[in-house]
Amino acid sequence: MRLDKYLAEMSYGTRNEVKKIIRSGSVTVNGLAAVKPEMKINELSDIVCIGGEEVSYSQYVYYMLNKPDGCVSATSDNRHKTVIDLLKDNLGNNVKKDVFPVGRLDIDTEGLLLITNDGGLAHILLSPKKHVEKAYYLIAEGTIPDNAIKQLEEGIDIGDGTITLPSRVENIKQYRLDGFGEYEQKIIADRHGNETLPDNSIYTSMELVLHEGRYHQVKRMVEAAGSKVLYLKRVRMGTLKLDRDLKPGECRELTYKEIEGIKNCCNADFKP
Ligand code: URA
Repeated sequence: MRLDKYLAEMSYGTRNEVKKIIRSGSVTVNGLAAVKPEMKINELSDIVCIGGEEVSYSQYVYYMLNKPDGCVSATSDNRHKTVIDLLKDNLGNNVKKDVFPVGRLDIDTEGLLLITNDGGLAHILLSPKKHVEKAYYLIAEGTIPDNAIKQLEEGIDIGDGTITLPSRVENIKQYRLDGFGEYEQKIIADRHGNETLPDNSIYTSMELVLHEGRYHQVKRMVEAAGSKVLYLKRVRMGTLKLDRDLKPGECRELTYKEIEGIKNCCNADFKP
């Protein structure tokens, strides 16, 4: 692999930035100064240092995508755009072929999706035994009475014969339509189709923190509590928080700190 490509893949900067670093003379390969960006290296056996610090090659890549409404959490699909298509729109040909989304969000759910080629990490994050927290922001129709909120938190029957694990409801608020931002108002109106919305309709927003990931779980829980989800967005998975600067459809690589955090976030102490 070319030295500049290798350093760019290792997140030391864009291709142009790493070329400058190489030409500045601070890079060595096997102890010898390397000033040519096009120099060929063996990324598995050569020792590359920047300013005396060894660069270690990782075969794994980790991206955070703010999944938009309308695309599917799959690697390929005949009808819809996939989250991998979106990643390629953002990053071009730099995307490794073996990446996949960690878990699924419904086609109309937005928010945090981790995309990686690290199967071991995905296995841990999705394992029902690890109880990794997933936090969702949602807007639901009407008001949800206190006893239904209590049921959501303690466990609720979502219709498949089992009760959900305890969850947390946070930041619960009630608004009329004009209490939401422009983006959310548009989504609520779209989800109502052609119906005219009465000005005095009330909506509930909240954050729901789960320790499991059953099929359509949030929507089914809210329905069991007597309401209906109009807007759903995942905002956190374990320690990994959706970057507020990412607009729907945008992605970025995880930082070193985020990767370390998510690798250590399995919630083995959670007692159902
Ligand atoms: N729960 C749902 O109902 N949908 C999602 O996409 C994620 C969690």
